[in-house]
Amino acid sequence: MGKPLEHHVLQETVGKTTWGMRSSFQWLAIVLIAVAVIGIVFSAGEGGRLPEDRTKALATSDHRSNNDVDDVPSSSRRCDLFSGRWVFDDLNYPLYREKECSFMSDQLACQKFGRKDLSYQFWRWQPHHCDLPRFNNTALLERLRNRRLVFVGDSINRGQWVSTVCLVDKIIPPSLKSMNTNGSLTSFKAIEYNASIEFYWAPLLVESNSDDPVKHRLPDRIVRVGSIEKHARHWTNADILVFNSYLWWIRPTLKVLRGTFESPDEIYEMEKLQSYEMALKTWSDWIEIHVNHSNRKLFWVSMSPTHERSEEWGATPGLNCYNETEPIFRYGYGGSGSDRNMMQLVERTIGGLKTKGINVQLLNITQLSEYRKEAHPSIYRKQWEPLTQEQLSSPGTYADCFHWCLPGVPDTWNQLLYAYLMAR
Ligand SMILES: *[C@@H]1O[C@H](CO)[C@@H](O)[C@H](O)[C@H]1NC(C)=O
Ligand SMILES: *[C@@H]1O[C@H](CO)[C@@H](O)[C@H](O)[C@H]1NC(C)=O
Ligand SMILES: *[C@@H]1O[C@H](CO)[C@@H](O)[C@H](O)[C@H]1NC(C)=O
Ligand SMILES: *[C@@H]1O[C@H](CO)[C@@H](O)[C@H](O)[C@H]1NC(C)=O
Ligand SMILES: *[C@@H]1O[C@H](CO)[C@@H](O)[C@H](O)[C@H]1NC(C)=O
Ligand SMILES: *[C@@H]1O[C@H](CO)[C@@H](O)[C@H](O)[C@H]1NC(C)=O
Repeated sequence: MGKPLEHHVLQETVGKTTWGMRSSFQWLAIVLIAVAVIGIVFSAGEGGRLPEDRTKALATSDHRSNNDVDDVPSSSRRCDLFSGRWVFDDLNYPLYREKECSFMSDQLACQKFGRKDLSYQFWRWQPHHCDLPRFNNTALLERLRNRRLVFVGDSINRGQWVSTVCLVDKIIPPSLKSMNTNGSLTSFKAIEYNASIEFYWAPLLVESNSDDPVKHRLPDRIVRVGSIEKHARHWTNADILVFNSYLWWIRPTLKVLRGTFESPDEIYEMEKLQSYEMALKTWSDWIEIHVNHSNRKLFWVSMSPTHERSEEWGATPGLNCYNETEPIFRYGYGGSGSDRNMMQLVERTIGGLKTKGINVQLLNITQLSEYRKEAHPSIYRKQWEPLTQEQLSSPGTYADCFHWCLPGVPDTWNQLLYAYLMAR
């Protein structure tokens, strides 16, 4: 399973070509193509770093001491935590058991809902030139002592929040933790630590007609792109903020509201990128004016890719993530489930804040998640509506290829968040 990436690249490239009789000329061609492909992959993906470097990094990766945590600041500057590969590691993963987490969501509990192939729980993210710090749940709670960490966003972000809670849950006795929901805000508290880990439902960040945390599935999406206060007043004073917003924007146009929902002035159609950009502007203006950045840590989780088209990763066309059991090993793989233009808008917005001295750390999880076509709930989650006969006869049609099973990929996102929280 955890074969070196180069091997997979080679296998894929050579395996796809049908060679007839293999003359020595053809063998030479294979070798030359392979060399060229490796060259292209490395120079395109990584600014030309050589494979030797990664071998060295890997050689040290499994012999880590506790000092590793202290190494984080320097190593996270030296290396790119978001560029790497997945390594099968059933010794150290998963970081918790699905059944052991008191607050597991039925949307993400794939094992509970019948998934038999559990390999998705055992992959470790290995950055090329360094290691992720070993996750220590006590250390995380210590870091969150007297602090309020709030995840703000959509159900993907909620999944990451559930993962955070599951990562610390098992070391807190039942009498020393609580979970409360008040409207759009759900708060987990580790009482002994006076630490609060919260999720605030705002799928489009700005105000919209999908703001109800329970009843938000409306056919017609209407966004008030210039207005965020309704949500933001609930998280402005948080010590650590983790934002995301992507999937709810994925449609050619959105309806945009001028005025208020109570007394609308005008509703008009706006192109996706334009409305997303306006919402990001509203968000960044709020951050600039209302959030005291001298003592806050701010994060943006980049778009979470979907896996809805099997032909994109070379499987039988017409399927989705249903039945997938292995990650994609094609280096730098990217499907149509992620929109680079939207990513660029986020980068530009964060860049704009940086020029004003406000640091929002991008958790660049897109590429590493792109590889994980097998890690979605697929059909193994609670179905909120009874399935039709037609759906049952063709499971692929109702597979969820958006969210992520837990334990799974969002635990890795949290390990990346952890690396930044523990640094310094
Ligand atoms: C995110 O990571 C991918 C893969 O390493 C990289 O290609 C991309 O440039 C990164 N984006 C940013 C803004 O760092
Ligand atoms: C985890 O963190 C706690 C608190 O910082 C520390 O006492 C403990 O030694 C750490 N455990 C490991 C295995 O590093
Ligand atoms: C408890 O944590 C909150 C943040 O969630 C903080 O405002 C408050 O000061 C903390 N209480 C104490 C006694 O430190
Ligand atoms: C719920 O939140 C509102 C503010 O939005 C607050 O006024 C109210 O006291 C909260 N209720 C509880 C039970 O915490
Ligand atoms: C911002 O935080 C700093 C450091 O904690 C504090 O000294 C300052 O008063 C805060 N500013 C505002 C406007 O709350
Ligand atoms: C899914 O996998 C099972 C077992 O390998 C197989 O019987 C079934 O035909 C597959 N379904 C699809 C839609 O590929």
